Amino acid sequence: MDSQKSVKILAIETSCDDTAAAVVTLEGGAPVIRSSVVSSQIELHRQYGGVVPALAAREHVKNLVPVVDEAMRGAGVAPDDIDAIAVTQGPGLIPSLLAGVSGAKALALVWRKPLIGIHHIEGHIYANFVRVDESKETFPLLALVVSGGHTELVLMRDHFEYEILGRTKDDAAGEAFDKVAKMLGLPYPGGPEVAARAAAADTSESHLRFPRPMIDSGDYNFSFSGLKTAVLYEIKKTPEVDRDDAFMNAICHAFQEAVVNVLTAKTKRAIAEHAPTTLVIAGGVSANVALRESLSDMVAAEFPYTRFVVPEFRYSLDNAAMIGSAAALRYARLSTEEHEALQRNAIDLEPDANLWLGKTSLERIAPRP
Ligand code: KG4
Ligand code: ZN
Repeated sequence: MDSQKSVKILAIETSCDDTAAAVVTLEGGAPVIRSSVVSSQIELHRQYGGVVPALAAREHVKNLVPVVDEAMRGAGVAPDDIDAIAVTQGPGLIPSLLAGVSGAKALALVWRKPLIGIHHIEGHIYANFVRVDESKETFPLLALVVSGGHTELVLMRDHFEYEILGRTKDDAAGEAFDKVAKMLGLPYPGGPEVAARAAAADTSESHLRFPRPMIDSGDYNFSFSGLKTAVLYEIKKTPEVDRDDAFMNAICHAFQEAVVNVLTAKTKRAIAEHAPTTLVIAGGVSANVALRESLSDMVAAEFPYTRFVVPEFRYSLDNAAMIGSAAALRYARLSTEEHEALQRNAIDLEPDANLWLGKTSLERIAPRP
């Protein structure tokens, strides 16, 4: 199929605690977001200090139909206008994934549409393609993936081809932010709270410095659990009366600085080795302003031939527009026979909590060709 052809995708994402739907089209080969609706469950899970999977699934089931309806209305489209339905197949929480996959399957069967399973991290990476100008050389592309569940450096030599250069040995970057927030008694999700306190810190007052784990390890792997422990020791050795705002801000600042330093150093090494024409960041931590600035400064200073692209803030956190972006580009690259197979096999699509960001995923999206 001609990759320039017009394509309309209804996308659904329910991998964690956001119920999301979006309508995405292709224009001149580039994804355009026609609507993007996200219903957040943060208030519900905040009482428990984290996401409770069974509660998340129940909310997804309650919210999915209204959210899909709002996305369709927002884009001014009817079921007949939709070419295919896309849904996050994994990774994520199984109860949450099941809600979205079941809903998407039902729509695909009743409306007789092809159903495309998309990897959640592929979605985060493709949030950037709303902005990437593909008239310029796009690949090789390096993606720094930093979410609540993943921290990886991924090299792409072409669309949908992934080579994982390195990953975290323990906690993901977002998870480390969330755990540090918890130690400081800050609400869930911790990333934005820690970032706000880090920005408010008076850096002339504090000389706190945390270790940069694995910064010189000579590979592209990460580790954040030691850093988290160092933060815990610092908190424990400070008498409770001294844990005031200035102290909390200083901790957040020093912690964020350590994370950002390590992420920037490893990304720099990967650019030096692989000379990508494009660097993107993907996942919830890509909303972190200090990380964006640090990477932007590093690329500007060292690599004039690499373009640094960041997703719009509203597509940094979990959303369905990113799933639609990946699905639209995938769909446009498939043949009519493959589209038909995706429709026939819609009933077989199963969520996978540990889905692998594979080399090619035709097998995954068309399980019985
Ligand atoms: O991609 P995402 O929305 O969900 C997953 O796929 O995991 O990422 C959520 C993670 C959480 O750990 C959250 O604390 C973190 O992203 N996060 C941030 C910021 N905003 C969200 N971390 C640091 N700074 C932020 N501004
Ligand atoms: Zn995510």
